[in-house]
Amino acid sequence: MENKISELRAAAAEAINSAATNLKELENIRVKFLGKKGELTTLLRGMSQLSAEDRPRIGKIVNEARAQIEQLIAEKNSELKAKELQNKIASEKIDVTLPGRKVHCGHLHPLTLTLNRVKEIFIEMGYSVEEGPEVETDYFNFEALNLPKDHPARDMQDSFYITEEILLRTQTSPVQARTMQKNSSNAPIRMIAPGRVYRRDDYDASHSPMFTQVEGLVIDEGITFADLKGTLDYFCKKMFGDSAQIRLRPSFFPFTEPSTEVDVSCVMCHGANDTCKVCHGSGWLEILGAGEVHPKVLQMSGYDPEKVSGFAFGMGIERIAMLTYGIDDLRLFFDNDTRFLNQF
Ligand code: DAH
Repeated sequence: MENKISELRAAAAEAINSAATNLKELENIRVKFLGKKGELTTLLRGMSQLSAEDRPRIGKIVNEARAQIEQLIAEKNSELKAKELQNKIASEKIDVTLPGRKVHCGHLHPLTLTLNRVKEIFIEMGYSVEEGPEVETDYFNFEALNLPKDHPARDMQDSFYITEEILLRTQTSPVQARTMQKNSSNAPIRMIAPGRVYRRDDYDASHSPMFTQVEGLVIDEGITFADLKGTLDYFCKKMFGDSAQIRLRPSFFPFTEPSTEVDVSCVMCHGANDTCKVCHGSGWLEILGAGEVHPKVLQMSGYDPEKVSGFAFGMGIERIAMLTYGIDDLRLFFDNDTRFLNQF
């Protein structure tokens, strides 16, 4: 019996030392020797066959063996646990000296940047920002702007009609009439209206069937053409720099009288270069249409042209963005190639 016990003890020690390479194996070894059906437990059961005088002595030896095996298992257990922790730490190690991964952050589109700047300049001058629908009625898009049906000037803007009376707005000018009619007290107006407009144009380097305009309208007593000129001169200096100059050319729009087209001195060459790609040597760039609001337009929207007068203007944002950034193809704004967009 004693021999058996010491053999068992040696076998257990050997197993714990060499066989157990992880916690699971160690647990198997514990069950094998100390579990309910384990070898040492079985041995203990055999004690009943011993004589009464051998029993206490052998019992003591068995208990010692048990304690010893438990002790070995506990030691091995903490040794393996420490090892597992070490392995875990090693495998999850983070090298804080590695260069970081670059986070690509979005940014505003060049057209949005340009539009924001235009808005900022007019808001600083006390203008409100108005909105109108992109799906517009023929009445607001044309008739209320002194363009009755069959007016030849309608041909200047090839339209996308949805029904006979509804179309995609060809200009932001309808917001002029909408703002005047909304203003039932006929209070003075100083507003801009940015937004998308649509025309049946082919898509090429300088045309797109959808583009962006900013409309402007000022109505009050005693508003003159000089106010228009001063306002646009101020705007251009803010937008293109203090050295920018404007030039007014007579023109025609049904909703203004007199009407003008406004050029700004070339933002690239300042008129100094015959081979300039932006102004082609002319020194001037057309940027907007404008004029004194036609009396009929005031009247149709409830204002009395005998009492008040006003000026209006409309500019294309794509064109202004092309000029400020020196871009020669409008399609770049809509292709959304990130190699282009990332430059802004
Ligand atoms: N609506 C015109 C266009 O799209 C631009 C324009 C010209 C607007 C003169 C105006 C204006 O308000 O007074 O071609």
